[in-house]
Amino acid sequence: MFSCCFGKAASPTGGANRANNRGSNLDVSIELLDVENMRLYTYKDLQVATAYFRPENKVGQGGFGSVYKGILKDGSVVAIKVLSADSRQGLREFLNEITVISYIQHENLVKLHGYCVEGDHRILVYGYLKNGSLDQTLLGDGHCSINFTWEVRRKICIGVAKGLAYLHEEVQPHIIHRDIKASNILLDDNFTPKISDFGLAKLFPAHLTHVSTRIAGTQGYLAPEYAIRGQLTRKADIYSFGILLLEIVSGRPNQNRRLPVEEQYLLERVWQLYREGELTRLVDTSVEEDVDVDEACRYLKIGLLCTQSLPKSRPSMSNVMKMLNDDMEFNEKDLSDPGLLSELMTYKTGKNHTSGTSSGSSRKPNDSESYGNTTTSYAAMTFTTITDR
Ligand SMILES: Nc1ncnc2c1ncn2[C@@H]1O[C@H](COP(=O)(O)OP(=O)(O)OP(=O)(O)O)[C@@H](O)[C@H]1O
Ligand SMILES: [Mg+2]
Repeated sequence: MFSCCFGKAASPTGGANRANNRGSNLDVSIELLDVENMRLYTYKDLQVATAYFRPENKVGQGGFGSVYKGILKDGSVVAIKVLSADSRQGLREFLNEITVISYIQHENLVKLHGYCVEGDHRILVYGYLKNGSLDQTLLGDGHCSINFTWEVRRKICIGVAKGLAYLHEEVQPHIIHRDIKASNILLDDNFTPKISDFGLAKLFPAHLTHVSTRIAGTQGYLAPEYAIRGQLTRKADIYSFGILLLEIVSGRPNQNRRLPVEEQYLLERVWQLYREGELTRLVDTSVEEDVDVDEACRYLKIGLLCTQSLPKSRPSMSNVMKMLNDDMEFNEKDLSDPGLLSELMTYKTGKNHTSGTSSGSSRKPNDSESYGNTTTSYAAMTFTTITDR
């Protein structure tokens, strides 16, 4: 069974790489080569698979490095995530990711095939998901060939909820993902969603009520209590899931600075229109023809429930699944204010709890998540100290 300590004896493959790890800042790295069911690739294997990391084969760029599409010798198509050499925090997450993913499998979680640790190279090899991530497709600016019908959206919402319920409630010890967001939801050929990036996952011992940890995550998806106090519970993931749910139903990113000021923050907008009895205005107009408006509005309300200001008012993921499947009622009277960014600002002016955690991210924020001067009361400095992740 999985051990969260990195202290097991190295395997033969690990021995072969031991020398390569000498001098690494992380003395835990060697032990991880013992991970079972995980293939160890050579750097040469991956160079060949990607035609020497040719730019045309690059499919994405994250905070910790680039992702390439590759074809392995056996013909399998893979996504190869190359960690930037200078990212120390990324290296820790790399190790964490291998350990965590190696022992969990679920249809709604991305499959990690293997990895490469050679010299300074740190590379993860995943199954390639041809329909990309939700941030590029559903929420992207460019042309998208996928028709996000209501049926497809429902399937995505329920699939992500299932994957998260598995991490939160079935895997022992429970896992908090910590970075649920549109770019970490990938779609396979049948639009089955797969949650990716367990690099920030934290093991969550059952006997603890929360884990105090450095703050990591992504602007716009962070639960206020986590961003302010760094107290991490599964409810922080549920908050992020709530934001994602709103994004999927509305087809809008959680923050869009091109919109009029009062509409820029999706959660705030949903809450406002909910109170005005106008939620239908939020349902993505591009699915008008086949959309079940009542169901879409129910999903928006579930999104509001997941983002409630008080963590204990947010439902568990298994109950969220039941609600999405209409197997469980929820009392709308229980809905109160969601946890909004403005609350962070109130705290911010009192005391700064958000000690900065640099991710070494080189990624520029895109338009929907950029920060800087703003005429709203939501100055972004709270989050700039947390960084873009
Ligand atoms: N298995 C995969 N199959 C297909 N495309 C992938 C796969 N994994 C990642 N990608 C693409 O590469 C992009 C970058 O992914 P990556 O996880 O490195 O960063 P991110 O999630 O966008 O940002 P961050 O580093 O802040 O978490 C994703 O948005 C996705 O489009
Ligand atoms: Mg990602």
